[in-house]
Amino acid sequence: MQDKIERLREEIDAFKADSKDQVESFRIKYLGSKGALKGLFSDFKSVPNELRREFGQKLNELQNRAKTRLEELRDSVEDQGSETQEAPDLTRPAKPTPLGSRHPVSIVRNEIVSIFSGIGFSVEEGPEIEDDWHNFTALNFPPEHPARDMQDTFFIEKGDNDIALRTHTSSVQVRALERAQPPVRIVMPGRVFRNEDISARSHCIFHQIEGLYIDRGVSFADMKQTLLHFVREFFTEKAEIRLRPSYFPFTEPSAEVDVYWGLETETDYRITKGTGWLEIMGCGMVDPNVLENCNIDSKEYSGFAFGMGVERIAMLRYGIPDIRLLFENDQRFLEQFKTAY
Ligand code: DAH
Repeated sequence: MQDKIERLREEIDAFKADSKDQVESFRIKYLGSKGALKGLFSDFKSVPNELRREFGQKLNELQNRAKTRLEELRDSVEDQGSETQEAPDLTRPAKPTPLGSRHPVSIVRNEIVSIFSGIGFSVEEGPEIEDDWHNFTALNFPPEHPARDMQDTFFIEKGDNDIALRTHTSSVQVRALERAQPPVRIVMPGRVFRNEDISARSHCIFHQIEGLYIDRGVSFADMKQTLLHFVREFFTEKAEIRLRPSYFPFTEPSAEVDVYWGLETETDYRITKGTGWLEIMGCGMVDPNVLENCNIDSKEYSGFAFGMGVERIAMLRYGIPDIRLLFENDQRFLEQFKTAY
């Protein structure tokens, strides 16, 4: 027994392997269910009692040694493996790179812009830092008029022509009309700023899309039909709108546009305050004063304007309960909006 153990130990220590197959044959030869160690363990049954302790220990040591050797051999062929590996297959397709997703505000903005592009509106942009003339005065907000307080302005510089963060994209109407004579048919997406408390329903930074159509003979009916077309493209073919009289300094008459949302679920009741109708934008016939402020003859030209909040529409479209989700950039939230846009 003693001899056998020693011989095996020498064999095990001396065993060399340079392939996985050889490692496997080592395992089978020494540690397998019919291997040399199994044989020794059965011989052990006939060892006299007084020697059992000694041989038992030696056998266990040998078995442990064999297991360690097996690991050593495995490691050695794996190391070798990486050195002798075949050249990489350069024709193999690369692993796909995960694509980001578009922000829901961008998705909705792009979709709205594309609906209006489809009926001949082009896109204009203007500065986020504006002066009083473009944000208020040219839009027919009289000085000291309370309508200026409706929009809590972030002022940057007080003066004859205050500098501030624009409170609405209507300022871009003025810039566009100062640049070009009618016909003008544009949509103006952009970021706006108001000094408001942040809550589930409002934020101090948000996005609007402004629309403007000025030409000879543009009527209120043209406006209504244009907005109905938009709502049907954006929501559903069957959508209905209603116009409620309202007030904006830059339009006369002015209206709020409501879309019929339905009253089927509890949520419908909550978000429509039990009416079934949801307000989605403001609109109106451009006040002649605005045209004149931009050197456009208000006797010759007329037109309509409208403005909507992109976050609000995104929240309606996707059932987002809190506007702050749109500003936190939590990937778990954003990844839900994988779309083609
Ligand atoms: N500027 C308005 C706002 O910020 C939205 C608006 C209402 C724009 C009526 C318009 C309009 O062009 O005609 O709340």
